[in-house]
Amino acid sequence: MVKVILVGNGAREHAIAEALVRGGAILRAFMAARNPGITKLCNNNIKIGKLDNFEALASFAEGCDFAVVGPEAPLVVVCADALQSAGIPCVGPTIQCAQLEGSKDFTRRLLDKYNISSNVPHTKFSKRDYDRNAILSAMETYGAEGYVLKPDGLTGGKGVRIAGEHLKSYLEGLQYATASLDSGDDLVVEERCEGEEFTLQTFVDGTHVVGTPLVQDHKRAFEGDQGPNTGGMGSYSMPDGLMPFVNQADVDQAILVMEKTVRAVKQETTETYKGFLYGQFMKTPKGIRLIEYNVRFGDPEAMNVLPIMESNFVEVCQKILDGTLGGQLRFQKKATVTKYLVPTGYPDNPAANALIEVNTDTLQKVGAKYYFASVDERDDKIYTSKSRAIGILGIADTLEQAEQVAEHGTACIQGNLYHRRDVGTKNLLQKRIDHMNRLMSKK
Ligand code: AMP
Ligand code: GLY
Repeated sequence: MVKVILVGNGAREHAIAEALVRGGAILRAFMAARNPGITKLCNNNIKIGKLDNFEALASFAEGCDFAVVGPEAPLVVVCADALQSAGIPCVGPTIQCAQLEGSKDFTRRLLDKYNISSNVPHTKFSKRDYDRNAILSAMETYGAEGYVLKPDGLTGGKGVRIAGEHLKSYLEGLQYATASLDSGDDLVVEERCEGEEFTLQTFVDGTHVVGTPLVQDHKRAFEGDQGPNTGGMGSYSMPDGLMPFVNQADVDQAILVMEKTVRAVKQETTETYKGFLYGQFMKTPKGIRLIEYNVRFGDPEAMNVLPIMESNFVEVCQKILDGTLGGQLRFQKKATVTKYLVPTGYPDNPAANALIEVNTDTLQKVGAKYYFASVDERDDKIYTSKSRAIGILGIADTLEQAEQVAEHGTACIQGNLYHRRDVGTKNLLQKRIDHMNRLMSKK
């Protein structure tokens, strides 16, 4: 029996835990809070601790064949390196390789240096000595509605501001840029791309990059893509693994970009990337563009692909570590829709510490799956925290059916929560198809 330790306690990790157990692993988990779903899959073999307490992690991991790290935060501060030093191979990149997510400037420069297509022009500003006029002039290069501001480090998907959407003038842009620099983050100003985004989550063994079905996330908090950016309010995938506005040639191109990136990382750092790699791409009239890399599975996007994976996930993890990944993986030809229930007020003023109740019987009747996210189980009761609480997943032959399953599933959860009813609906998808068609016809 393969013994695996999982690091993390969100819905993404709940989906990973399920895939590991389905693949035959004996699981234990190191978590920041008690996720009831993961705890059950581990038969209570869990430890609660800070995810960057690597000493406690390594000691709890003793005897495991390998580790799987879910979130990015521990990876960008030597989690994989620490586990490896303790003799536990890690599915998840070392700190050097994790710069692909940890620094947007690292990634943009890498793509430039190694002539990898799909890059976006950018300028970086240092928090130590920045010049306001130079920032203004960088914004002006791309135009009043043509630039994007990004803190260089990790921001949980919430730090990016887009001119013309979040920023209504150069002055507003400059204010955000300097506030961000003064709060201690370097800043990247980059060209704004226009198109439709898609997510390509992959497995990487150092050389091979093997894809999973494409997913589209919904970052804005409110229906109709309104409101502040979030970690992601829900996502969908299609039975053919593509998107109506993204074809196989786009996917092949994206995989090529990712393969070249993995090779470039090796040349640049001498270290081999092993783990999951998440490519956020945008299809534009000029071709596909890389918006960002994440060195992990997506959340909610992991819930769209892992539950329909037919290949054995434990074997895939072993192949990642052995460097023997190759060929295609098998997935059910189903549509999936994930809808996140989040605390009222999320993301700006979330109502934390509220009780939620999950009616598992009705969820089962509806046919929806559920994955616990930022919750804490205390005295047999489940409480929310400040982030997304529970992901509801519908799997079906068509997108319409999967959306309905997920939507009915949300009604089985009681608590001070809200969700986006429009995720995965025909109307929203049509809007995206129309948007892409409009852009393509202007080409
Ligand atoms: P990131 O954290 O880099 O993924 O950015 C969060 C979101 O901001 C992305 O999913 C996009 O919707 C948007 N975004 C980031 N960079 C760009 C860009 N260069 N052009 C247009 N939108 C962008
Ligand atoms: N849903 C976006 C992410 O996981 O980064």
